[in-house]
Amino acid sequence: MVNVVKPKPDLNLLFKPRGIAIVGASHTEGKIGHTIVANIVSNGYSGGIYPINPRPGVIVGHKAFQSVEGIQADIDLGIISVPARFVKESIEDCGRAGVKFIVIISSGFGEVGKAALERELVTVAHSYGMRILGPNIFGIVYTPFNLNATFGPADIRPGNVGLISQSGALGIALMGKTIVDKLGLSTIVSLGNKSDLNEEELLEYLDKDPNTKVVLIYMEGTKTGRDLIALARDVVKRTPVVVIKSGSSKRGAKAAASHTGSLAGSDRVFESAFEQAGLLRAHTLEEAFNWVRVFATGAIPKGDRILILTDGGGVGVMATDACERHEVELISDYQYLNDVFGGIVPEFGSTKNPIDLTGQRGDDAYLEALEASLKAEKFDGVIALYCENAQSKVVELSGRIIELLARLDNSKPLTFAFIGGKQTQVALDILHENHVAAYDHPDEAVSSMGALMRWMRMTQKPNQPGIALDFNRERVMDIISNARSQGREQLLETEAKSIFEEIGLSVPKSMLARNFEECLDFSDQIGYPIVIKIASPDIIHKTEAGGIRLDLQTRAEVENAYRTMMSNITARYPKARIDGVVVNELVPKGVETIVGSTTDPSFGPVVMFGLGGIYVEVLKDVVFRVAPINHTEARSMVRSIHTFPLLYGARGEKVKDIEAIADALTRISQLICEVPDIAELDINPMTALDQGKGCKVVDARITLTHKESSTHSHQNCDTLIPKESSNRSHKDNESVSERECDAFVQGYLNSLNLQEEGK
Ligand code: COA
Repeated sequence: MVNVVKPKPDLNLLFKPRGIAIVGASHTEGKIGHTIVANIVSNGYSGGIYPINPRPGVIVGHKAFQSVEGIQADIDLGIISVPARFVKESIEDCGRAGVKFIVIISSGFGEVGKAALERELVTVAHSYGMRILGPNIFGIVYTPFNLNATFGPADIRPGNVGLISQSGALGIALMGKTIVDKLGLSTIVSLGNKSDLNEEELLEYLDKDPNTKVVLIYMEGTKTGRDLIALARDVVKRTPVVVIKSGSSKRGAKAAASHTGSLAGSDRVFESAFEQAGLLRAHTLEEAFNWVRVFATGAIPKGDRILILTDGGGVGVMATDACERHEVELISDYQYLNDVFGGIVPEFGSTKNPIDLTGQRGDDAYLEALEASLKAEKFDGVIALYCENAQSKVVELSGRIIELLARLDNSKPLTFAFIGGKQTQVALDILHENHVAAYDHPDEAVSSMGALMRWMRMTQKPNQPGIALDFNRERVMDIISNARSQGREQLLETEAKSIFEEIGLSVPKSMLARNFEECLDFSDQIGYPIVIKIASPDIIHKTEAGGIRLDLQTRAEVENAYRTMMSNITARYPKARIDGVVVNELVPKGVETIVGSTTDPSFGPVVMFGLGGIYVEVLKDVVFRVAPINHTEARSMVRSIHTFPLLYGARGEKVKDIEAIADALTRISQLICEVPDIAELDINPMTALDQGKGCKVVDARITLTHKESSTHSHQNCDTLIPKESSNRSHKDNESVSERECDAFVQGYLNSLNLQEEGK
C-alpha cells in the first residue's frame, strides 16, 4: 500500500461545509440515515443537502441521488451511514466528487478488531485529499452554522461550550444533558475510533474558533499523548480545557480498551500529564459540567483574592472548608473587609471572610453586599451563598441579580450556591438561563471557582525553557552495545552507574571485584567503611536475597561478609549467574528516594519520583511526569509526594538537598528521551543528603528495550510499582497497624523470593 502524506484540508469546511452528502440517507423514518437528514434540515442548515440512496425519491424534502459523484455542487462534507462493507466504496464516491471531510457513522471497524480495514479507509480517504472523522460516531454539530449532522437529539442549545467526545452514546446523552442543564454548545464532535482526526487537530481549531470559550473533552485513551500535551500547553493559555478521562480503575481501563479499540494508558500517568499540560481533569460528569458552566461565563480572573458572601453561617463554614480542598485563597485583609461591609452587615453577623449577613437583613442587604463585593477592587472573585428562608423571595432575587450583573457589566469571576426547595430550583433555572454560574451546593460553587483559579495560575505560568543535557552519548551507547552483544537487556549495576555518572549524577566510589582478592584490594583502595553488594543479572532485589552488607569497618569484616554472602547466595540461587561483588563507598545517612522511568503506551518516556527504599512498593508514594521536564517541573514533582516533609526537615532533621534531587530528575528525564534504548530504569535508593551536599546514586538498574525495537517498548508505567502490593491507597496505609504492615511486607518479600527461586 502506498503511503500518502496526511492531507490538510481547511478544517473550516468540516464545521461550515458548503454542501453535505449523506450516503445511506434512508427513506424510512427512524433509521439512522433518515434521522441525520432530518436533523440537518430541521436545524436550518443553509448549504446544499444531498441524500444518497440507491432508490430515487425525496428524503426529508430533498431529492435523493444515487451517488455523490456527478452532483454539480460544492460538497465539502460526506456523511457515511451505510453498513461497514459498503463504507470503502462510499468514501471513493465522495473522493471522486471532491469532498474534503468524511464523517463515518458506521460501526464495525477497529472497535471490533478490524483495525486493518479501518487503516485502509484512511489510506483511501487520504489518497483523495480527504480526512476522516470516526468511524463509529454519531456525527458533528456546529451551532453558529446551524449544523446538526448527527442522529442525536434534534434540539441543541447554542452557546460557547465545545464538546469533543470519544464515546458516542455518552456524547449523545451529554447533548440531552446540556439542554436540561441550560448549557449552550458551540460544537459537538464525536471522535469514535479516531482513525484519522483526533483531539489535537480539533482542539487547535476550537482554540481559534471565536464561538468557543471552553472545551470539554471526554476521552477513554490516546495513542498520541505527547502531541496532546505539547499542544494543550499552548492552548490552555487562551482556552480552558476540561477533560473527563475514563478507564481510571484497572477494570475500567480494560473496558475502555475493548470498547474503543484504543489503548488506555496508565491512569497515574494521565493524571500527571494532564496536570503538566494545564488540562483540568474532572472526575465526574457533574464536576465537569460545573466547571464548564463557570468558564462559559467568560470571566477572566485577575488574581486569587476570593471573597465568600453568605446569608447563613453553616454554609459559610462549609464553603470555607471547601476552599482548602479546591485551592481557593480567601482574602484576609480584615480592615478592608470591614470598610466595605461594615455598614451592611448586622451587629451579630461577621465582616470577616466569609461575610455573614445572616438571614435577618433580607434580600435587599444581600444585593447591596453583592454589589459592593463586585465593585471592590481588592476582590478578584466572589462566591455568593444563599439559603432560602421564610422571608426569602428567591425567584425575585434571581431576577434582581441578573439586572445587577447587567447594570455593572460584571466580568468578575462569580459563582453562586443557592440552597433551598422548589422556589430555589426555579431561581437556579433563571440564573442558568442567563449564563450565571449557579449551583445548589456550596462545594460546587467553590470547586468551580477553584477550577477557574487553577486555570488562571496556568495562564500566568511562564514558559520554562528545557535543559540541554551535555553528555558523551557514544560512551553510553558503548555500554549498551556491550550488554547487548552479551545477550543482556539488563545492565549490570556498574554499567548503569557509569551511565548515571556520565550524565552528571553523583555516584559513590564503586568497583566490581570478580574474586575475593580483588574485593579486599578494592576495599583498601576506596577506604573504610565499605558496602559490598552481589553483582548478578539474575538477582534484582538484592536486599531480600541477602546480597548486600553495609558498614563494613575493617578488612576482616569485609572478608567475613564476602564469604558468608557467597555461600548463602550460591546455596539459595544455584542457577544465578554471579559476576562478583560490587565494592562501594558507604553513603552517609540521608533520606532514601527513588527515581525511575518507564515507557508509557500513551505518553512515551515518563519519569518517576518518590520515597525510596525497600518500602517503595508498599507506600506507593510516587509521582510521574512525562519526560523531559525542566527544573520547575522537577521541583513541583518533589514537593508533590505525600512524604515531602521528610525531605523538608521533619522532626528536627536537616532539610535535604531538594535542588540536587530536582537536578537529577531533569537529567534522567533528558537521558530517557535521548537514549530510546532505555526501556526502564530505577535508582533506588537515591539518597538525598543534607542541603548543599547533593544526592547519591546508591543502587541503580537499567533495563533495555528488546533488541529488535529501536524505539521505546510499550510498557505500562505501573511496572514500576509491583503488582504484588496491596491496592490500598497511601491514606489507607496510614491506618494500618504496624503488625499488619509487617505481615504484608513479609508476604510481599516472600513472593519475590519464591519467584527468584523458581527461576
Ligand atoms: N449507498 C447509498 N445508500 C446505501 C448504500 C450505498 N452503498 N447501501 C445501502 N444504502 C442505503 C440503504 O438502501 C438504506 O436505505 P433505505 O432504508 O431507504 O433502504 C440505507 O442506506 C441504510 O442501509 P441499511 O442497510 O438499511 O443499514 P442500516 O440503516 O440498518 O444501518 C448503519 C446502517 C450505518 C446505521 C449501521 O450499519 C451501523 O453501523 N450502525 C451503528 C451506528 C452507530 O451506532 N455508530 C456509532 C454511534 S456512537
